[in-house]
Amino acid sequence: MLSAQAVELRDYHKAVIGNDCKACHDNGIKQFPSDQACLKCHNIEDLALKTARNDEDKWQNPHNNLHYGKELPCQECHGEHKAKQPLCSDCHTFKYDKHKE
Ligand code: HEC
Ligand code: HEC
Ligand code: HEC
Ligand code: HEC
Repeated sequence: MLSAQAVELRDYHKAVIGNDCKACHDNGIKQFPSDQACLKCHNIEDLALKTARNDEDKWQNPHNNLHYGKELPCQECHGEHKAKQPLCSDCHTFKYDKHKE
């Protein structure tokens, strides 16, 4: 378990969220955030458009993919205080060059 002093936010979140842990930790600091917290600021339809592939690779889109559509929880692929690989990397070698580890 990390202490409050030990946690680091991502640079892209530091500026907008600062020390407001509750912006994400909507179920208390000891629980991982729900997707609802992320979706207050992010929109899954927009994300699916931003990471759309060409037709051939269409279902490799992390935000709208073959197995889970748009329903996979953010934290299967995005960490906040620690690096995280997209779940897909467990079984595939798709290129996700823009992913922030
Ligand atoms: C208070 C608003 C807010 C909340 C809550 C929030 N974000 Fe963000 N997030 C932002 C903003 C603003 C940016 C920077 C602009 C952008 O890339 O959309 C950002 C950027 C990101 C990026 C990086 C974009 C890049 O440059 O590659 C990821 C990944 C991300 N957020 C995931 C999440 C996840 C997962 C959660 C929930 C655990 C979350 N965010 C909660 C506002 C928020
Ligand atoms: C942008 C969203 C976001 C913000 C803001 C945020 N967290 Fe987190 N936190 C997460 C996510 C996602 C996880 C799941 C594990 C991970 O990615 O590190 C997590 C996990 C944790 C954990 C559990 C770690 C573990 O391995 O058991 C602690 C403790 C924690 N956060 C503390 C904090 C504190 C303290 C703050 C405020 C300084 C904070 N968090 C702000 C998203 C956030
Ligand atoms: C537990 C293993 C596993 C995970 C995790 C997984 N897949 Fe798959 N995936 C498979 C298997 C098995 C097939 C069918 C065999 C094949 O065609 O490679 C497949 C097929 C596919 C295909 C069609 C074939 C291809 O290679 O283009 C796509 C697209 C795909 N998965 C996308 C994803 C995405 C995106 C993720 C992450 C959200 C993901 N998968 C996560 C096991 C997995
Ligand atoms: C299957 C894994 C996966 C899931 C689930 C996922 N993401 Fe992503 N996300 C990625 C990858 C991979 C990228 C980088 C795209 C690339 O490299 O083409 C990304 C990029 C982003 C970006 C930057 C988009 C841009 O180009 O500006 C944001 C913001 C983001 N994700 C937020 C989220 C949020 C919020 C959720 C939950 C609603 C979520 N993601 C769910 C894998 C995922």
